[in-house]
Amino acid sequence: MTRAQIDTLLQKIESTEQVGGGNDRIKAIVNRINRDLFYAIEDLDIQPEEIWKAVNFLTQAGVNGEYGLIAAGMGIEHFLDLRMDEEEERAGISGGTPRTIEGPLYVAGAPKSVGFARLDDGTEVEEGKVFFMQGQVVDGNNNPIPGAIVEVWHANLKGNYSYFDQTQSDFNLRRTIETDENGNYQFRSILPSGYACPPGGSTDVLLTSIGRHGNRPSHVHFFVSAPGFRKLTTQINFEGDPYLWDDFAFATRPGLVPDQVDITDAEKIKEKGLTKPYS
Ligand code: DHB
Ligand code: FE
Repeated sequence: MTRAQIDTLLQKIESTEQVGGGNDRIKAIVNRINRDLFYAIEDLDIQPEEIWKAVNFLTQAGVNGEYGLIAAGMGIEHFLDLRMDEEEERAGISGGTPRTIEGPLYVAGAPKSVGFARLDDGTEVEEGKVFFMQGQVVDGNNNPIPGAIVEVWHANLKGNYSYFDQTQSDFNLRRTIETDENGNYQFRSILPSGYACPPGGSTDVLLTSIGRHGNRPSHVHFFVSAPGFRKLTTQINFEGDPYLWDDFAFATRPGLVPDQVDITDAEKIKEKGLTKPYS
């Protein structure tokens, strides 16, 4: 069909919308996406069996609860970040730690402490490598913000997150840290492994069929908030991870790979009450 014929058909479909009925914003979005889809069906000569296969795929993706993963994998979540960056730039807001995607695995209500927290429950301390991370929450003028809330969450050595992985203890690798009087926070944990989309799941099937993988590099998530300030959603990554710049969710950004130092000095190891090198 020609574009004109398709447009006539779309007008007929849209003309069934009750004037003053429904929600104008939703109408605008749905009609636009439907139009783009009709054009794609025409331009790519998408066959009926391909459409019904897609409908079944989407149904199963919903059953599997994988739409969040698909949104990340298609780069939509990263695109939203870039658009928020752009909006801030237009408003004259710049600097600070870059934002990056939240992902679908945050859980509210993690145990809270001031200044320091240990995130891991100890079950992987033998197998894993201990790391400490410290930082300071500052405002746009570099003034420390005491009492800021730093929420941290990450995966275990299997790349799984507590709560979603019911074999882990409650809130394992999830904590809420309030910055101290100097705006500082520190935590101790186990270096996480990267995440892989569930094998054979909808996201995995989709990515495989377009010649991509569903892996994320090892990372730690953060929410940073304080009264009177915008909330930061971000992550850090670790140097040396093979997927560092090949994240299926496109979340790695310059400025989010902090300096990492291996501590092998016996005295320093002992000082921390540890028996092997840490990071
Ligand atoms: C996604 C994000 C994550 O941080 C993660 O660990 C797994 C998946 C995501 O955006 O799909
Ligand atoms: Fe994650």
